[in-house]
Amino acid sequence: MEKTQVAIVGLGTVGSGVAKLLLDYGDRTARHAGRALWLEEVVVRDVNKSRVCELPAGILSNDLSRITRNPEIKVVAHLVGGLEPARSIMLKLLEGGKDVVTANKALLAEHGPELFDRARALGRSIAFEASVAGGIPIIANISTCLSANQITSLHGILNGTSNFILTQMEDRGWDYATALAEAQRLGYAEADPAMDVDGSDAAQKLAILAHLAFGARVHWRDIPRVGIDTLDGADMRYAKELGYRIKLLAVAKLERDGLELHVSPTLVRIGTPLAEVRSANNAIRVVGDAVGPVFFHGLGAGQMPTASAVVADLIDTVVGRTAITFKLLNLWSQQPPRVHPRDYSQVTGRFYLRFDVEDRPGVMADITGVLGRHGISIASVIQNEPSGDGAASVVPLVIMTHTTTEGATRAAMEEINGLVCVHSRSVRMRVDD
Ligand code: NAP
Ligand code: HSE
Repeated sequence: MEKTQVAIVGLGTVGSGVAKLLLDYGDRTARHAGRALWLEEVVVRDVNKSRVCELPAGILSNDLSRITRNPEIKVVAHLVGGLEPARSIMLKLLEGGKDVVTANKALLAEHGPELFDRARALGRSIAFEASVAGGIPIIANISTCLSANQITSLHGILNGTSNFILTQMEDRGWDYATALAEAQRLGYAEADPAMDVDGSDAAQKLAILAHLAFGARVHWRDIPRVGIDTLDGADMRYAKELGYRIKLLAVAKLERDGLELHVSPTLVRIGTPLAEVRSANNAIRVVGDAVGPVFFHGLGAGQMPTASAVVADLIDTVVGRTAITFKLLNLWSQQPPRVHPRDYSQVTGRFYLRFDVEDRPGVMADITGVLGRHGISIASVIQNEPSGDGAASVVPLVIMTHTTTEGATRAAMEEINGLVCVHSRSVRMRVDD
């Protein structure tokens, strides 16, 4: 059987899974590629590190030129995280005549235009299915399978680590730090887990999806985002009492005046598909004008789910499918954007608000007065009786609003936080009904 030589740069969580699939299931990849995918070189930073996967003798090194100088190696899985040296490595691979497959969304979200321009100029391709939602084939679905549609909205749970943490806190009563440590141990988290929990990773993935689905050219840092790192367990309990779960939701929605884009902890109604996404799973609800709503669900992080997407990209590249779609999609090109982001303050929705307030006459009137002046209508209120002997002077007040805007709720919160009856940080979260 004919064979095509491939290589891997980076043998961490994802790289080890890719090596395993190539080495242990070569018959499977050969069947789909019509030729053997022969793992010729593996390059890492530290050759002395102990590895979870066993490689054939002599293929592991820390010398990238063993790949770039070998004309027989056609495709390389680039599985190094972060921006540098990941960017320089990708440029060297492209300049060495290699097609590249990557899982690095941070790199694409930050340097997509430069890398894609370079690949086009050199006649090479970059495949990146694993960069968004791990094992879920969302890139292929949006780029090709749904190409007859104008996509009108995307609602995604795009960070496996955050979803894992939220699920463990809710189901097992774990505290935040324990759940995060376990997500790191299981290989879900980024090398810097701050990117997972502060909403940056989800914003990077949303920027990529918005680029593909809507032709938006928005930088991920310009997407309004809030993470789960400041979430209080009390709000998870109040949300449940109200019939909701809190999920880190990434939203892109096409409106008449532009594209609504945001990432934030959001109350999602229990029983709806997004609310039932558990553990490190991801999900994306896509609405297309022809197909209607479609729902994708699966593991969004972890060794083998991510390796599944990388190896599928390797096969697509080897058989020539990637070259065709790469050329046709013309991603991160000089073309002007097809849509601009909406003014975030005009984005509408219902909101969950929580205030810690003094338990005395007139407080409710003060707060509802501010909301009323900002045109915010109240849908429901929870204020439980203070526990114990009635000595508690500060009680939580939870308010669900009717539909209003980001701008109105933000301005009202600022005013309410200045009231003497309000103690500590108030909470404001979007509600997705
Ligand atoms: P990881 O476990 O930290 O592995 C990174 C690998 O890169 C290591 O093997 C490291 O070598 C290698 N490396 C670093 N600098 C290098 C250099 N200068 N030259 C050669 N190799 C170098 O990371 P990971 O979790 O596999 O993630 C890899 C990429 O996949 C990231 O972009 C991440 O965002 C993305 N991703 C990860 C997941 C997941 O579930 N983990 C899911 C989807 C996407 P040493 O081993 O010698 O240190
Ligand atoms: N750290 C990422 C996550 C890996 O937890 O979703 C997948 O991109």
